[in-house]
Order: sequence, then C-alpha cells, then structure tokens
Amino acid sequence: MVLVRTKKELASLLSSFRKTKGLGLVPTMGALHQGHMTLVKEAISQNENVIVSIFVNPTQFNNKEDLEKYPQTLQADIALLKEVSDKICVFAPNVEEIYADKVKTKVYDFEGLDKVMEGEFRDDHFNGVGTIVEALLILVKPDKAYFGEKDFQQLQIIKKLVAVENIDVEIIGCPIVREPSGLAMSSRNERLSSKMRKEASFIYKTLTTAKNKFGIESAKDVLEWVESEFLKHPDLDLEYIAITDVDTLTPIQKKQKNRKYRAFVAVYTEDIRLIDNIALN
Ligand code: PAJ
Repeated sequence: MVLVRTKKELASLLSSFRKTKGLGLVPTMGALHQGHMTLVKEAISQNENVIVSIFVNPTQFNNKEDLEKYPQTLQADIALLKEVSDKICVFAPNVEEIYADKVKTKVYDFEGLDKVMEGEFRDDHFNGVGTIVEALLILVKPDKAYFGEKDFQQLQIIKKLVAVENIDVEIIGCPIVREPSGLAMSSRNERLSSKMRKEASFIYKTLTTAKNKFGIESAKDVLEWVESEFLKHPDLDLEYIAITDVDTLTPIQKKQKNRKYRAFVAVYTEDIRLIDNIALN
C-alpha cells in the first residue's frame, strides 16, 4: 500500500507505473464502505495500477456544518483497502495541496444536467464536484475513472464534464451496492439510529414497487403513488421524487419506447439526507 499526500509525490508515483498496463482512478471522500469497494474491485479487475483518492472536497458542500461533520477516517479507509489488495495507491492531499491559498469553484455548463434534482436542492454542488474531479483527472491522468450509480446524476454530469472539457478518460459507472435490507450504502447511514436504519429500507421497497408499476401505469400515477406512500411514513420526509430520462435527466413527459427512464428520490430522516434511485426499464 502506497500513501501519497502531495502532488509532487503523486507525480513521482505516476512515473513509476508501466504506461501500457492501464491506470484506474477511484475518486472518493473517504469514510469508505462496501459501496466504494465495488468501484475499487472493478478498477483492480481492469487496470494494473489503481489510485484511490481520498479528499473531502470543500467546494461541493453548500452547508458548512455538513462539511465539518463529514467523517475523516483515513487509517480505517487504508485498512479496508488493504483487505482488497495491497497494490492500491492512495492519494490523500490536504485542501492547500489542491486549492493552494484560494478555495475557488469553477463554473461549468453541464447543459442543464445540474439544474434538476440534486442541483436544484444543493446550490453550486455540481460545480464543486466538477472542479475537484477535473483537477484529479488532470493530476492523475487515468485511463479509466470509476463512479457509482448511487449518485447517478453525478455520474452523468462527470460524463458531460469530460466531454465538454475534452479530457481523455473513460468514465465507468458501477451499480448501487445495498445493505441486506435494501438501503443504499452510504457513510451517512452510520448516523441513523438502528430503528431508522431498518425503517429506511422502505425507500428501496417503494422504488422497487414503483419500477413494477411503471411497466403498467402512467408516470404521473407512479409519481403520485410514491408521494402517497411516503405520506404514510412521516418519519421519512420525501424531498423529491422524479422520473427522468437517463441521458438528459429531464422529467418524463410521455413514455417513449426507445428511451430509458430512472426514478430518483431524496429523503430526510433524523436530519440526515438520503438519496437513492432505480432503473425503471
Ligand atoms: P463519495 O460520496 O465518497 O463517493 C465516492 C464514489 O463512491 C462515488 O462515485 C459514489 O457514487 C460511489 N458510491 C458511494 N456509495 C455507493 C453505493 N452504495 N453503491 C455504489 N457506489 C457508491 O461522490 C463523491 O464521494 C464525491 O462527490 C467525489 C466524486 C469523490 C468528488 O468529490
């Protein structure tokens, strides 16, 4: 296991890799769990060298308290990565290393992908994500970079980012990893009470039923049904439910046979914000 903390150390590490064998990058903010690990395992299966970046990126937090509360567990993260392979390299820079003395967010044109759902409720969030992911892609120059469908909107925005910024990298999306109850894995789940962690499995159950209904009912009926289900569970406060086209992320108008759709939710419980999504067809 190699741990590098500066851009200089990273450059020297990169120069030691054999160029032809593939370099995979898995960007994370640490507090790693099995959801992150599937990205890491996928990267290992496709590349000789894998770098996992661990960096809690200040520019993507629109809430200062959320940033301050974000768990920093570097030693535990390294231990988890070692269980998978001791060949993984970790790049864990500090804020000055990435942003020098000015923490600045770039502004991108994501062609509307950032204006809906998470973008609507989290001001400037995706410009912050774009800023750090672009910086990491330029520093590491991977052949492939891995992102989870847990943050499906983020995945689509990163595909757009590399297209508009002309960055030569293949973006690989990996399926959502869930707890045995169905709850999508997230570092935020640790903050839930054990009662709510069980009850939150309702989110995935509802999405699964919505998927079945989508085959036979109109999108409008499915949306209304999901809203009414959440009203029966006041502990789980539905911020939004959206059914969108997977490519454009625009809300569905009328089902079209040749298009793929996905349902997305954000839910508040015990002051914790959970997101999930499911492929509908
Ligand atoms: P973070 O929340 O640490 O997530 C890192 C990667 O792990 C993301 O691509 C995310 O989608 C994926 N992931 C998290 N939970 C998952 C799950 N249950 N199943 C599958 N994949 C999962 O997302 C970020 O960090 C940041 O925005 C980042 C891209 C690193 C930029 O700062």
